[in-house]
Amino acid sequence: MALGRDIRASVFDRVQSFSAREVGQFGAPSLITRSTNDVQQVQMLVLMTFTLMVSAPIMCVGGIIMALNQDVPLSTLLVAIVPVLGVVIGLIVSRLRPLFRSMQVRIDNINRILREQITGLRVIRAFVKDGYERERFGEANADLTQNAIRVGKLLALMFPLVMMVVNVSSVAVLWFGSYRINSGAMQIGALTAFLSYLMQILMSVMMATFMFMMIPRAEVCAERIEEVLDTETTVVPPLVPVRELKRTGYLELRGAEFRYPGAESAVLRDINIDARPGETTAIIGSTGSGKTTLLTLIPRLSDATDGTVLVDGVNVRDLDPALLSRVVGLVPQKPYLFSGTVASNLRYGNPDATDEELWAALETAQARDFVEKLPEGLDAPIAQGGTNVSGGQRQRLAIARVLVRRPEIYLFDDSFSALDYATDARLRAALAHETADSTVVIVAQRVSTIRDADRIIVLDEGSVVGTGTHHELMDTNETYREIVLSQLTEAEAA
Ligand SMILES: Nc1ncnc2c1ncn2[C@@H]1O[C@H](COP(=O)(O)OP(=O)(O)OP(=O)(O)O)[C@@H](O)[C@H]1O
Ligand SMILES: [Mg+2]
Repeated sequence: MALGRDIRASVFDRVQSFSAREVGQFGAPSLITRSTNDVQQVQMLVLMTFTLMVSAPIMCVGGIIMALNQDVPLSTLLVAIVPVLGVVIGLIVSRLRPLFRSMQVRIDNINRILREQITGLRVIRAFVKDGYERERFGEANADLTQNAIRVGKLLALMFPLVMMVVNVSSVAVLWFGSYRINSGAMQIGALTAFLSYLMQILMSVMMATFMFMMIPRAEVCAERIEEVLDTETTVVPPLVPVRELKRTGYLELRGAEFRYPGAESAVLRDINIDARPGETTAIIGSTGSGKTTLLTLIPRLSDATDGTVLVDGVNVRDLDPALLSRVVGLVPQKPYLFSGTVASNLRYGNPDATDEELWAALETAQARDFVEKLPEGLDAPIAQGGTNVSGGQRQRLAIARVLVRRPEIYLFDDSFSALDYATDARLRAALAHETADSTVVIVAQRVSTIRDADRIIVLDEGSVVGTGTHHELMDTNETYREIVLSQLTEAEAA
C-alpha cells in the first residue's frame, strides 16, 4: 500500500510539473489511468511477490526434500511431472501477454470517450448525437469486454489443465508406488505421505506460475508509469533562480518566437513588445492570430522557442517560478474555477486575504452584485470548473481572483468578451483605478474595449504589424483600420 501511495505521489508531482505540451502528448485520460489503474496493477504484483514468491519456493524445496526422504526412486517421477506442469502454464501465460498489453490501452480509450462525452454533454444534446455517441462508447466498451473475455477464457482453461496434471501425476504415483509396496521396498504410510508432498510441490509450482501470469500486465503498467516519470517538462525550472526583483512590472518580449510541437510554421514570429508599469497595453488581432499563445509565454505556461521574455529585465527562464507567478497574474480566455466556494476560489492566489479585500476585488470586477444576491454570499458553492455560474460571472470571478492576488503584471485574455458593453465599460473604469501603478496587458476582439489603451499592438498571423495609439493606428495601419471599421462606423472610430 505504501508503494502504491509513493508511486501515485511521484506521478502526481511529475504531472504537476508538466507544461501544456507534455499533458497534450499523453492526454489527460491516459494520465488518469496511469496514476490509478496502472499503479494498482504494479502494487498487486508486489503484494503477490511478497506473499507467494516467498512461500512458494520454500514449500517447493521443502516438499522435494521430504519426498526424497520418503522414497528416492519414486521421486524421479517429479523430474517428469514438474516440467509438464511448467510447460502447460507457460503456454497459457505466453498467450495472455499480448492480451494484457492491449487491456490498458482499452481502459484508456473508455476513459477518453467517457470524459469527452461528459464534458461535451450539452453539445451532444444540441446536435442530437446521443445515438452516435452511444454507439461510439458501445464499441469501446465491447472492445474492452471482448479482450477481458479472451483473458478470462485462458484463465478458466488454466485451472482444469493444472488439475489434470495434478491428478494424472497422483495416478502415476499410486501406480508405480503399488509396485514398490508389492515388492516390499516401501510402506503404505510412506506412499500416502509422498502423495501429500507431491501436492505441496505442484501447488507451489502453480502459485509461482500464477505470479508469472501477473507479471505481463504489471510490466506493461510499470512501463506506462515509467514513461510519465521519465518525461521531463519542456519548461525547465532554473538551476540558479533569481529570487529578487525590483518588482516594478516592466515587461519586455524580445524577438519571441513560438512553434507548437510538430507544427510546420511558427505561430508567433519575432514579437517585440514593451509593456510599462502604469500603462495599459492592448493586443488586438483576428482569431487564431496567436494572442493567447503570446500571453502563455509570459507566466511560462510554455517557453518561447526563440527570443526572450523579460520581467523587470530578468529573463523569465531565470526567475524563481514562485516569484514569477506572484508577479504575473493571468486571467485565461477560458477561466477555470475550482470546486469549493466563491471565497475559496478568490483566495486561491492569496490565502490570507480578508473578507473586505475579497469584496473590494468583487466590486472592481463588477461581481459584487451577483455574489451579494447569492443566499450564501461569499460561501456560495462553486461546482467543479465553475459550471454552476454563468460564463460572464465566471469571467468576473476569475478577474476578481487575480485582483485579490495583486500581481505587478495583469494579463487579461479576452476577459471581457462575455460582458455586455455597459458592464465592460464599468469594469474597465474600475480596473484602471485599481491597477493604476501596474502593468496591464489586455487582449480583446472588441475595439471599444481597447481603444483607450496607451498602446495598441496589432497582431496578424503571428507577427506584430503595428504599434501605437488608436488614432495613430487609424491613420497609418491598414489591418487595424479594417478591424475597427468592421465593428464601428468611420464617425464612431474618429
Ligand atoms: N495546442 C495547440 N497545438 C497546435 N496548434 C495550436 C494549439 N493551440 C493553438 N494553436 C494554433 O495557434 C494559432 C494561434 O492560436 P491562439 O489560441 O494563440 O489564437 P488567438 O489569437 O488567441 O485566437 P482567439 O482570438 O480565437 O482566442 C492558431 O492558428 C492555432 O491553430
Ligand atoms: Mg485566444
